[in-house]
Amino acid sequence: MRTQVAIIGGGPSGLLLSQLLHRKGIDTIVLERKTRDYVLGRIRAGILETGFVDLMREAGVSERMDKESFVHDGTVIAFGNEQFQVNFTEHTGTPVVVYGQTEVTRDLYDAREAMDGKIVFNVENVEIHDADSDAPYVTYSVDGREERIDCDFVAGCDGFHGVSRQTIPLSVRKEYEKVYPFGWLGVLSETPPVHDELIYANSDRGFALCSMRNANLSRYYIQCSLSDDVEDWTDQMFWNELKRRIPEEAAEKLVTGPSIEKSIAPLRSFVTEPMRWGRLFLCGDAAHIVPPTGAKGLNTAASDIHYLYHGLLQYFEEGDSEGIDRYSEKALARIWKAERFSWWMTNLLHRFPDQTEFDIKMQLADLTFLRDNREAQSVLAQNYVGLPY
Ligand code: APR
Ligand code: PHB
Repeated sequence: MRTQVAIIGGGPSGLLLSQLLHRKGIDTIVLERKTRDYVLGRIRAGILETGFVDLMREAGVSERMDKESFVHDGTVIAFGNEQFQVNFTEHTGTPVVVYGQTEVTRDLYDAREAMDGKIVFNVENVEIHDADSDAPYVTYSVDGREERIDCDFVAGCDGFHGVSRQTIPLSVRKEYEKVYPFGWLGVLSETPPVHDELIYANSDRGFALCSMRNANLSRYYIQCSLSDDVEDWTDQMFWNELKRRIPEEAAEKLVTGPSIEKSIAPLRSFVTEPMRWGRLFLCGDAAHIVPPTGAKGLNTAASDIHYLYHGLLQYFEEGDSEGIDRYSEKALARIWKAERFSWWMTNLLHRFPDQTEFDIKMQLADLTFLRDNREAQSVLAQNYVGLPY
């Protein structure tokens, strides 16, 4: 088989790239290790920057998102019993859009199917060969058959545990990592959201977040210990703990119900450099991870796809390699700023096991400065709605 761009991974990054390129007549094949249902079973954040929304429009997959999403002009930050709003639209002219990553992925799969896009599911043993030559190729097995795809480029969109990043020799690759000493216990419940905007809460008992998917689907998180087991947390224990961490007013209004999903996620900051090796490009979680505070995961994947898509168009349509040559540098410049923002929000809002009383005073000073200072709120707003591409 031959294609122009072989895409490893059928998560949001791979699907979006494939959809954008297909609409410009550039051929791709997506290789996905799991099934479509498995990929759609993953629950991830649901805040979209305008840049991401624009890309979905450009990819022709925004119809349902435009109808069913919610627009949020700001977010609430709470600490102890205090709370204040940071208004994004006032500071930046731009709101954020609330639409679950699962829905984004579903819409992308539907669009790929409608266009007869080539996606091979259940692939095993994917290997990328000769990425540093002019003739790269990818081998894999599916249903017991060995297959080979010759291509011009390989897009490594296979997430943190994929093979693409590992293909880049260690002598070329440098990795930067920070692992946080806690996790997030998340619950999805068919209950109305407690507030019409998100509430990020710093409390003595640890962080909490009130988020949502729609008018009758809420997503809540509490900071938990990494040694906790989901099985140890009954729904009742979760709701009780959440109520103790959010402002009283919200706790009183909170509608609880049975969880329809409950899981614990670790928090990590991670970046690999460079994001290009020869004809292999890394995108999304394959190249970087952010802790979920600030909801930058999907949005950082989107800016990679934006740079790579435009670089590949420039190459295929104009024979100009400037865009792909600068891909790694442009993508990383934006990624590091999103890393800083997620790290800062994580530090601002969580309880750390080794935190001293001095450290807690520093958090409080940061929070009261943010509450009282317009410029500080503007900085948060600019980062939250997404820095320019
Ligand atoms: N071969 C083929 N596919 C693979 C392989 C492999 N060796 N390894 C992993 N995959 C697939 C996974 O099954 C997954 O469906 O690659 C896909 C990667 O998808 P994601 O992990 O969702 O990564 P990405 O598409 O970059 O999306 C970024 O996902 O994790 C969140 O916070 C992150 O929201 C962000 C978004
Ligand atoms: C979510 O809705 O799942 C969500 C929202 C905001 C975050 C993280 C997760 O910062």
